[in-house]
Amino acid sequence: MCGIVGYIGDSTARSILMDGLNKLEYRGYDSAGIALYNQGQVEVYKQVGKLENLEQVITDEKPQGTVGVGHTRWATHGRPSVPNSHPHTGCDDDFVVVHNGIIENYLQLKEELQEGEHLFTSETDTEVIVHLIEEEYRGNLESAVRRVVAKLEGSYAFVAMAVQEPQKLVAVRQDSPLIIGLKDQEYFVASDIPAVLKHTKDVYILDDEEMAVVTQNGVELSTVEGETVDKEVFTVDWDPGMAEKSGYEHFMLKEIHEQPEALRRAISGRLSNDNSQVIFDELNLSPAEIEKYEKIYIVACGTAYHSGIVAKYLLEDLVEIPVEVDIASEFRYRDPLLDENTLAIVVSQSGETADTLAALREAKSKGAQVLAIGNVVGSTIPREADQVVYIHAGPEIAVASTKAYINMLMVFYLLSIYFAQLKGTISATRTEELIQALKNLPNQVAQLIKDSEDTIAKLADSYVDQNSAFFIGRGVDYAIALEGALKLKEISYIYAEAYAAGELKHGTLALIEEDVPVIAIATQESIMDKMFSNIQEVQAREAHVTGVVLAGNEEVTRSLDRVIEIPSTEEILTSILTVVPLQLLAYYVALKRGCDIDQPRNLAKSVTVE
Ligand code: G6P
Repeated sequence: MCGIVGYIGDSTARSILMDGLNKLEYRGYDSAGIALYNQGQVEVYKQVGKLENLEQVITDEKPQGTVGVGHTRWATHGRPSVPNSHPHTGCDDDFVVVHNGIIENYLQLKEELQEGEHLFTSETDTEVIVHLIEEEYRGNLESAVRRVVAKLEGSYAFVAMAVQEPQKLVAVRQDSPLIIGLKDQEYFVASDIPAVLKHTKDVYILDDEEMAVVTQNGVELSTVEGETVDKEVFTVDWDPGMAEKSGYEHFMLKEIHEQPEALRRAISGRLSNDNSQVIFDELNLSPAEIEKYEKIYIVACGTAYHSGIVAKYLLEDLVEIPVEVDIASEFRYRDPLLDENTLAIVVSQSGETADTLAALREAKSKGAQVLAIGNVVGSTIPREADQVVYIHAGPEIAVASTKAYINMLMVFYLLSIYFAQLKGTISATRTEELIQALKNLPNQVAQLIKDSEDTIAKLADSYVDQNSAFFIGRGVDYAIALEGALKLKEISYIYAEAYAAGELKHGTLALIEEDVPVIAIATQESIMDKMFSNIQEVQAREAHVTGVVLAGNEEVTRSLDRVIEIPSTEEILTSILTVVPLQLLAYYVALKRGCDIDQPRNLAKSVTVE
């Protein structure tokens, strides 16, 4: 949700800022802009649309300067337009601001400023910040920013520059992420780690109500009230190459191919030497605590929410605790029933999703223990949770989540076995069987991608001109149908819906007619007869059915128009395999429809506003 960058050092800021924005473009791509300080004035360049539009107006010579800020926007207040793009300047271009978040009391502040003759040129909430700085500036930018922050309500991270203090950036954080990258006499401000990874792995992660004053001499950290903050430098363990495309046409395809390696990282260090136990050294949970939990809530958004639906099947089966799965934006507003006997598991790749963060706070306020499953180390959700398990997927750049999803599933598999061990609901033999099957999954995923990618790329031809597609499944397969439909609709813009196969006859069957594409996920042996009947129901209406089935299931395979086979594994573990062909299908359909795969319209990867 909007990406912010800032640079101060002795190199040309232009290319560093543009490269940083490139790495943050997944956060929003409605418009982009940069502002550089040069010879007593600030030069601002902005363009509507993607970063490439901004690149076209920037040359090797312009703009000049070694200090600057940049922004890539996901529009909230005001449509995508040049005046609404960041950086924003005030009445006389002496101050510059880039902002991520929402200033909730901006209308009131704007009216007051307009009465004081401030001239506004945009429809954004952000512009009040820069006019307020103008109003409050008395020769020291950080003091002005402190006075401004006292007037703001809402969530924000912003960076301010003043022409009168050209060698200084002031950055503040309140509910929107912000980090400061540290290198010898070069400093970077950014919304997220990939923007600085090329230059440094050492960062400060700002907390809420903290401010950084960044000059070429160093970084001073304080609270917005002015108390000095002593913070440890956090060293990122990601490789710079992880945030590059490495020869793939799109990040999404690269991330699909990275899944076997990502899975290995998720398993690594979490099995005992003799493979008889799952270990989570990072968790502090006793058998008595697991025994105490009467209910588990899993709360998340988007793809992370879908991983929770799979987890419900796993946890209820293996740990024998009732599980509710909630969409975070609903959970926080319906006074959920949870207390100290509830375990709340919040799942978030970015660790910054506003609704998930609010759900975490809601659960904590009601006395529940909160366990976060996250990917970005040091992000807000893991830091606020009582306990954290990281999925170790590495940086995920494509808006459509793939490797983070598969690693969320793997962590849920491991956690379910771990909880079951603690609670005594799983036998030693069953644990060993499941662990063996889990260990095989990375290689099976690699083989599956190798064996099926070309076939799926061809299969995609028959979807290119479709207006809709239906995904059906039962049990865990239904959970994967939800994720398959989401992948297809978000990147190919084909209307795609998922239904529990047994529910079709209660309404959706009315939409099935000749040649409507149906993707039937049929890997659950224990309910295969029922699923087979549901496939026949849609075939009787002449739908075109592609099945994702376990290799060797002749009976089901014979009845299908097209078949994608997945290797055999334990019935409760199929989801990691089943989702892979659906990710590839969505990718190739979107590719053939000429869609913008990594940056689908209207979406952003990290949603830090409600
Ligand atoms: C956005 C992204 C989705 C993601 C969801 C939750 O909608 O486009 O891919 O699943 O946010 O994100 P999180 O970072 O909390 O997992």
